[in-house]
Amino acid sequence: LARGVTEPDLRGRHVVVSAGGTREPLDPVRFLGNRSSGKQGYALARTAAARGARVTLIAANTALPDPAGVDIVRVGTAVELREAVLGAAADADAVVMAAAVADFRPAVYATGKIKKKDGQEPEPVTLVRNPDVLAEISGDRARAGQVIVGFAAETDDVLANGRAKLKRKGCDLLVVNEVGERRTFGSEENEAVVLGADGSETPVAHGPKEALAETVWDLVAERLG
Ligand code: CTP
Ligand code: CA
Repeated sequence: LARGVTEPDLRGRHVVVSAGGTREPLDPVRFLGNRSSGKQGYALARTAAARGARVTLIAANTALPDPAGVDIVRVGTAVELREAVLGAAADADAVVMAAAVADFRPAVYATGKIKKKDGQEPEPVTLVRNPDVLAEISGDRARAGQVIVGFAAETDDVLANGRAKLKRKGCDLLVVNEVGERRTFGSEENEAVVLGADGSETPVAHGPKEALAETVWDLVAERLG
């Protein structure tokens, strides 16, 4: 098929995509969060649906229009995202973790709003580790042959960091972005290298998030056979 023509190569497949960024509450009005917009995850969901897949989109705190023809599950925290991903992954052919999952959450949640006290410095915030969803689903696959994809934003030696992370997580593919000023977060475009557990390296030139999404699904489809 010519470029730009969508081949329904994911027909009959169920794919799960997580998108956005988790928020970890400190009290009823405040949270620890990150700058993920969810645009890359939504592009993955849209393109998979266009290629014929049944899509479950696990959306963490996104402010984007619902993509047509996709089942959306909304979550807030990393713990909620884990529950939703584990549930949806049970019968999935592929899982793509595009969400920015907070590594830590406040150890305690104040049920009432935290108030300033006259003449007193604030209490330090103690953090605890969140579950690593990607490592968990990769280490204990819900289905034989399930293809699992992670995303990583890196600085410094981007490829070496990406290779080490791919191994640590145990996923099949890792999409590695270099982060810097004006890159990646909230932007309409992306540029990446997709590393495969089989040693493959697929560069994706700077371009729309849809183009990166299509490449991810090409690599997933190859591995699904
Ligand atoms: N991820 C996850 N659960 C977490 C943290 C990350 O599932 N608690 C997933 C992300 O969705 C992403 C991948 O793991 O697909 C890589 O995230 P990243 O933050 O780069 O990995 P970390 O292991 O948290 O490494 P770092 O210390 O560099 O943040
Ligand atoms: Ca992290």
